[in-house]
Amino acid sequence: MTPKQMAKIHALSFKEPRPWSVKEFADLLASPHTHIVTSDNGFAFVQIAGPEAELLTIAVHPCARRNGEGSNLLKNVLGTAEAAQCEEIFLEVVETNEPAIALYHAYGFENRATRKDYYNGPNGVKSHAVVMHKKL
Ligand SMILES: CC(C)(COP(=O)(O)OP(=O)(O)OC[C@H]1O[C@@H](n2cnc3c(N)ncnc32)[C@H](O)[C@@H]1OP(=O)(O)O)[C@@H](O)C(=O)NCCC(=O)NCCS
Repeated sequence: MTPKQMAKIHALSFKEPRPWSVKEFADLLASPHTHIVTSDNGFAFVQIAGPEAELLTIAVHPCARRNGEGSNLLKNVLGTAEAAQCEEIFLEVVETNEPAIALYHAYGFENRATRKDYYNGPNGVKSHAVVMHKKL
């Protein structure tokens, strides 16, 4: 999947946090600290830092959702972090993002903290972030 295709899926998937640009995806692909996993209609990036992994983003094209791709991406993210001998994985998610939070709970993530007014949404509206984690 190319950076352009990723940016397109991201733009269809996010208002807050804002969608990432083609250049941002190209930079992530070039980074030695990030790993990408892909599926037919989606992708995820995980960053490895010593014993900790962070899920940076995950997105499936809106036309292909509820068909198991998000689950498969997340399983591959967890496998990537385990293969790198990480002990824990973290992520941040907008607290109103029910589909993503349901997905993360289904794979054993637990809420750790809330970051108040963390995201700047459209029209200047701020949203809280939930920090979730899972022991590996
Ligand atoms: C979150 C996302 C990646 C899930 O992808 P997906 O391919 O639809 O996920 P799956 O089909 O594998 O669903 C797995 C589970 O997640 C949960 N889930 C997914 N979409 C859901 C929804 N709309 N409502 C409630 N639960 C949902 C369910 O538990 C589901 O299991 P089930 O289908 O057996 O009920 C997708 O909705 C997406 O790209 N959203 C926009 C980007 C985003 O919000 N990313 C996360 C940012 S932190």
